[in-house]
Amino acid sequence: MSAASELLRIDRARSAERIRREVETLTGPAFTRSQTSICRYAYTPEYRRTLDHFTAAFEQIGYTVAEDAVGNLVAQNVPAGERVFGLGSHCDSNRNGGPWDGTLGVVVALEVCRLAAEHALELPLRAISFLEEEGSGFGQMLLGSRIAAGRVTDADLTEHVRALDDGRPFAAHAAEAGYAPDRWREASRTLDDLDGWIETHIEQARTLQDEGLALGIVETIAGYVHADVEIRGRADHAGGTPMDARVDALAVAGEVVLELERRAREAGNATVGTVGELAVEPGLINAIPGGVRLSLDVRGPDGDAVRGVVDGLVAFAEAAGARRGATVAYAERQQLAPTPMDGAIVDALAGAAAAAGVAHKRMISGAAHDTMCVADRAPTAMLFVPCRDGISHAPDESADPADAALAAEVALNALLRLRAAR
Ligand code: GLV
Ligand code: MN
Ligand code: MN
Repeated sequence: MSAASELLRIDRARSAERIRREVETLTGPAFTRSQTSICRYAYTPEYRRTLDHFTAAFEQIGYTVAEDAVGNLVAQNVPAGERVFGLGSHCDSNRNGGPWDGTLGVVVALEVCRLAAEHALELPLRAISFLEEEGSGFGQMLLGSRIAAGRVTDADLTEHVRALDDGRPFAAHAAEAGYAPDRWREASRTLDDLDGWIETHIEQARTLQDEGLALGIVETIAGYVHADVEIRGRADHAGGTPMDARVDALAVAGEVVLELERRAREAGNATVGTVGELAVEPGLINAIPGGVRLSLDVRGPDGDAVRGVVDGLVAFAEAAGARRGATVAYAERQQLAPTPMDGAIVDALAGAAAAAGVAHKRMISGAAHDTMCVADRAPTAMLFVPCRDGISHAPDESADPADAALAAEVALNALLRLRAAR
């Protein structure tokens, strides 16, 4: 049988129902810290229960499940040391998140593993759920996969990366949760022996919906810079201080926010820029803001364009601050380069989608994904499932389990094609 003709048809309705049930279960009160959104992040009881849920599900189909030195979940159907193909995503959420971001990718990985077992395909598989992709616990995106890829330092984990809730270091929280953060380098084993990797995710944009497509196949993931800008002015009386005697840190911040918008538009090429966090001191109606911290999130598929926006904005902020007598300090949290996906896996996914008659397109991911870090160690690709109106990082996030079942079918058939091509 040729590689191209090996098409496995699944019971799509049954898979869709299983996927729907998994996603819905994880919206229950045991799995979210919020009454109005999905909110779960590293080392909380809700996150622990989510890992336990997936552990039980993988064990039920005969997988061995373990957690690495910091808490990335790894489920595998062959002994450690054997070559495997990886599938997965993350099951933490944005603090104001919906049911699908990340969780879908772990649920689809579980579904592919179930289907492979039911069809006795003898595919050596590893499913991974990465820790803390969203940065909801510690303010740093892709933390679990960056640790596994060795993209952090000891000082990051013991000093720089701190819990948003209580300000204590990542390492202290990880140790309290029963992990061994001092042995974080051992988490690199999570990415050992991978022949390839596929992450399924909701699109988080509305291209697929608008074009009436059921599936996207990612060719490049946009790179990003995450940083903070601290502006120091002078706190003073809002009534007594004349307009020309103020050093208003928030006025500088206002200029910076609008300049980011202007520069991102000007850069074109799908470059985007966002200020999502703004902390104002003292934050009182009758006091001139003496200090402001704002976050910068600049992204795009053209790394030079992203860097150009950031560098230009920092120079602008320093000049705007100086004009008003304020000081400006820039500190980068992290940056990741745009990440191309592997041509052979992308082609296998596209071939499988075409053979199954699934309407699809190749596309860019504007959002970041753990796959960017997996790509350091293995050939990778991603599948996108449409989400309603493109809404994500919001409680209204919604997707169709039937589309997710198609993704599982296409991923499974791509694995068969890749095996046949070897
Ligand atoms: C990940 O959640 C991102 O913000 O891209
Ligand atoms: Mn995600
Ligand atoms: Mn997200």
